[in-house]
Amino acid sequence: MSEVYTPSITVLDSPADVEASVADLLIDQISQKPNSVLTLPTGGTPIGIYGLLVAAYQARRVDFSRITTINLDEYWPIKNNHPASYAYYMNDHFFNHVNVPLENQNIPNGEAHDVDREAKRYEQVIKQHAIDLGLITLGPGETCHIGFNERGSAEDSRVRYVPLDEQTKQANLRFFNNSEDMPEGAITQGVADILQAKRILFMATGEHKAWGVRRSLMGDISSDAPASFLRHHPNVTVIIDQAAASLLN
Ligand code: GLP
Repeated sequence: MSEVYTPSITVLDSPADVEASVADLLIDQISQKPNSVLTLPTGGTPIGIYGLLVAAYQARRVDFSRITTINLDEYWPIKNNHPASYAYYMNDHFFNHVNVPLENQNIPNGEAHDVDREAKRYEQVIKQHAIDLGLITLGPGETCHIGFNERGSAEDSRVRYVPLDEQTKQANLRFFNNSEDMPEGAITQGVADILQAKRILFMATGEHKAWGVRRSLMGDISSDAPASFLRHHPNVTVIIDQAAASLLN
């Protein structure tokens, strides 16, 4: 049995407060270690954070020229230039506006023909880096997914293809203009890859995340709620808004 840790939990008033706080922590991390290696998420929750990081870059408060980014996941199969792909998302919200060197940007390739081979390649990318900080968000509904580690994902899982949970498909459909474009699965970092980061920032906002926050932070640590495995990591900071915290205690 792995040791169980109690993460520090900060509850802030609003999503905007959570975004500002997380953006500041990321900027601090990069100021202290300009060549930081960061795990990055996509989805709705972190959009505001990327906006704040772009603004900080434009105001010369932060320099991304030495960081390395390793994204959590990507749909598969999907064209990199599809507007709902995470490659497109990262360019649109972040990379096109800042100075992260292209060769330091890592995302699983949704266009790969052989998904298992692509998963192995991405695992090697992760193994070649010591990840300083992982920014992790919580999946929708009862999924409690991290990355695309859906329910049933093992704590020792590594990069692989995962079929999407029905609740994930429902929640993420909003990013696809044409529902038929939505892939059935994704390539994701495994739970073990995520836990390899020296420090993890776990964030969630909104009442619709309250059940998952409670399940992940207070329920059994098990594959039924992959985010619960974060409690096996000694250095997790949870930053949530009041709405997401409303079922704690
Ligand atoms: C996608 C990502 C997950 C993330 C989730 C959160 O499913 N693959 O890593 O946890 O989005 O979604 P949102 O922030 O849109 O609620």
